[in-house]
Amino acid sequence: MNPLLVANWKMNPSSVKEAEILFDAVQKEVKKMAIDLVICPPYIYLEKFQYPIGNIHIGAQNMFYDERGAYTGEISSLMLKSLGLAYVILGHSERRQYFFETDEIINRKMKEALRCRIKPIFCVGEQTRESLNGQENFFELVIENQLVEGLRGVSSARLADIVVAYEPVWAIGAGEPATVDDIFRMGLFIRKVLTKLYGRPMAQRVKIIYGGSVTSHNAKDFIYEAKTDGLLVGGASLNATEFISLAKSLV
Ligand code: PGA
Repeated sequence: MNPLLVANWKMNPSSVKEAEILFDAVQKEVKKMAIDLVICPPYIYLEKFQYPIGNIHIGAQNMFYDERGAYTGEISSLMLKSLGLAYVILGHSERRQYFFETDEIINRKMKEALRCRIKPIFCVGEQTRESLNGQENFFELVIENQLVEGLRGVSSARLADIVVAYEPVWAIGAGEPATVDDIFRMGLFIRKVLTKLYGRPMAQRVKIIYGGSVTSHNAKDFIYEAKTDGLLVGGASLNATEFISLAKSLV
């Protein structure tokens, strides 16, 4: 299976011209590689990129949970679908933190995305490196709760469309990723929770990827040593040279 590489541009770059230049440089190189690439630009640039073509897909960074209605400033699943989008990032920690998205809101979005055949890249991750009051299994409990709540009511038939992104919040944009060992262990734990919820054969269908300070220097270790199915990349996806060398390091 090809590694899944997700580029989360967040609120960058600042002009459509720059977005086109970045996109063209990246897709020209990555289309020759055995990698499935999902580029997630800001909404306002999405229409510029009419994909999928081959291994290059376009994703959104968010969407609303109702398909239409009076929701000023929101974007619906139907709108994303009408542009041919294959993926949407849901539950990113920046959405949880700055836009107060709860597990319940994320769950509604998950179900709406799946209903519209848009694949959710469902982010989970603990806030801090320290466990609360030194509590044992603290991180596992946080992740398990996010998984259980986010997937509430999601049928096992849709699991093959779900990507779970393990993103420890403290590692995002920090220049310091989680260790290979921790990512490996958390990957196993996420699979264990999915198995508990859906049974082993179904749980195997979910892709589990890692995000948080991924660069061209460490990306390979997270795929081949931590045994993830892919990576969610923020900062390093904004520089074409860096991102192309990151992609090259995986093949
Ligand atoms: P980062 O962001 O690669 O800049 O740490 C990752 C993310 O927020 O998805």
